[in-house]
Amino acid sequence: MEMGAPSIDGDNPEGDPMKIAFVTGGNRGIGLASARRLAHDCGHVVITSRDAAAGEDAADRLRREGYAVTSLQMDVTDETSVKIAAGIVGGSWGTGSGTSSCSSTTPVNVSTTMGSLADQTNPDSPYLSLVVPAYQSSKAALNNVTITLAKQLAVSSIKVTSVCPRFVRTDLAPAAAEAPLAPEDAAEVVYRAATLPDSAASGTFVDAQGAVPW
Ligand SMILES: NC(=O)c1ccc[n+]([C@@H]2O[C@H](COP(=O)([O-])OP(=O)(O)OC[C@H]3O[C@@H](n4cnc5c(N)ncnc54)[C@H](OP(=O)(O)O)[C@@H]3O)[C@@H](O)[C@H]2O)c1
Repeated sequence: MEMGAPSIDGDNPEGDPMKIAFVTGGNRGIGLASARRLAHDCGHVVITSRDAAAGEDAADRLRREGYAVTSLQMDVTDETSVKIAAGIVGGSWGTGSGTSSCSSTTPVNVSTTMGSLADQTNPDSPYLSLVVPAYQSSKAALNNVTITLAKQLAVSSIKVTSVCPRFVRTDLAPAAAEAPLAPEDAAEVVYRAATLPDSAASGTFVDAQGAVPW
C-alpha cells in the first residue's frame, strides 16, 4: 500500500486559512504517527483507513490527545471509495474562498530505498541481496509516479516527493518488529516532505539524511 500525506490549504469555519493534512493508511504504523506529527502544525488532519471502525478508533485516540482529526473510509484500490473521500475533503476544505486549495499542496509518497533501481544494482549496497520483486517493483512504480506527477505539475507550486523512512517498527512485515526506527522517526521524514518551503525542489526522493538515488 501507499501512504501519502498531502497538505492542502483550506478555510476553517471562521474564515481563516488553515492547513489540512490528508493521510492514507492513517489508522496505524507510519500513517498514524505521521497524522499525529502533522496535527501539531495543521488545523485539521483527515486520516483514511480501509476499515471505518479502525479509522475512527485511531481518530478518537488522536482527538483525545488534543488534535482535530476526522476519519474517512477509503481503500486506495477501490476507485469509488477514493472518489467519495475526495469529494468529502474537497467539499469540506478544498474549495474555501480566500486561499488557493492547491497553493501549498505537497503530496508525499512513502517509498523505500528498496524501490531504488540505482540501489538495487549497486554492488556496494547493503540491500543488494534483498530480493522482494513485487514490493520493490511497486515502489519503483511509485517513484515513477512522483517523477511524472512533478513534471505534470511543474507549472504549479505543488511539490511531489518520494520519501524513504528507512526500516521502521510496524506491522508491515514480521521482520519489521525488530526494526531500529520507531514510527515517530518516520513521521519526521514525512512531515519534512509535507511542509517543504516554497524554494524547495519538486520531484525528489529523500530520506532523513538527504537525497536517495532513483
Ligand atoms: N515499515 C517500514 O520499515 C517501511 C519502510 C519503507 C516504507 N514503508 C512504507 O510505509 C507505508 C506504511 O507502512 P507501515 O510500515 O506503516 O505498515 P503498516 O503498519 O502495516 O500500515 C499499513 C497501512 O496501510 C493501510 N493499507 C494497506 N492497504 C491499503 C489500501 N489498499 N488502501 C488504503 N490503505 C491501505 C493499512 O490499512 P489496514 O489497517 O486496513 O490494513 C495500514 O493503515 C507503506 O507504503 C510501506 O511500504 C514502510
